[in-house]
Amino acid sequence: MGPSLGLAIDAENVCLWLNGSKGPVEILKKVNLRVRAGEYVAIVGPSGSGKTMFLSAVAGLEKITSGGLKVFGKTPVPEDPKIGFAMSRDALLPWRTARGNVELSLEALGVPASERRMRAEQALAQVDLLAYADVYRAQLSQGMRQRVALARTLVTNPSLLLLDEPFAALDAQTRILMQERLMKLLGSYEGTVFLVTHDISEAILLADRVIVFSHRPASIAKEIQIPLPRPRSAVHSRSTPEFQKIYEEIWSQLSREFTAEDL
Ligand SMILES: Nc1ncnc2c1ncn2[C@@H]1O[C@H](COP(=O)(O)OP(=O)(O)OP(=O)(O)O)[C@@H](O)[C@H]1O
Ligand SMILES: [Mg+2]
Repeated sequence: MGPSLGLAIDAENVCLWLNGSKGPVEILKKVNLRVRAGEYVAIVGPSGSGKTMFLSAVAGLEKITSGGLKVFGKTPVPEDPKIGFAMSRDALLPWRTARGNVELSLEALGVPASERRMRAEQALAQVDLLAYADVYRAQLSQGMRQRVALARTLVTNPSLLLLDEPFAALDAQTRILMQERLMKLLGSYEGTVFLVTHDISEAILLADRVIVFSHRPASIAKEIQIPLPRPRSAVHSRSTPEFQKIYEEIWSQLSREFTAEDL
């Protein structure tokens, strides 16, 4: 039993370099982060700072250059059934129905056909889209596509849910409704959530702790605990003074991380 026991993510001095067109580029510089199993953590940071790269490393899709990275005590590998990864582009297959898209995650795990169908329908019911099980991507609104994508990620009941700007493609109002829906869904979820977002309110609503990444090469510029009581409401919580105070604190750090290039 190692020191990583009880940790979903254990990142120690994680450094990551990529080969750019003009030679090696430093992306992550000594990222130190421990996420307890069951904890909800959100990352905000300037565009291009390395948030997606860090998430990809956690998902085993990107190799770190140096340092240590463990997920549930092990070096991450791609296609780990314990990990569910949802991105901002819904990436639904257009030639499959909503149900077919949700079943895809179960096919990858070798779940038998009859069980796949049942579980896919349960997952679609959770996002209120059971009536759309036989509908193709082209006939779904962007918000519905995101809900199918969420069902596809949750259907395997992953222990670690990685969300990379899951609602970035949605308009501001639909996004708030999706945040509300996600929080309701997570009410019956026992795993860990690791969210990357540009939306500070989304980070505060969802997370127990918000991490601010510095500009590239990214390290952790600040960590902010979110002591707001749960359940929180995407519609109502944002207008409270406590919420506003945390928002200002995060924004003041984040705005310091923008470089001349960003402005
Ligand atoms: N193959 C590559 N070679 C070199 N640099 C790359 C490569 N892929 C990405 N990068 C650089 O890595 C940096 C981090 O990218 P990443 O996608 O992690 O940023 P991000 O924080 O997720 O940004 P955003 O908020 O815009 O999604 C960027 O500056 C990008 O230009
Ligand atoms: Mg990104």
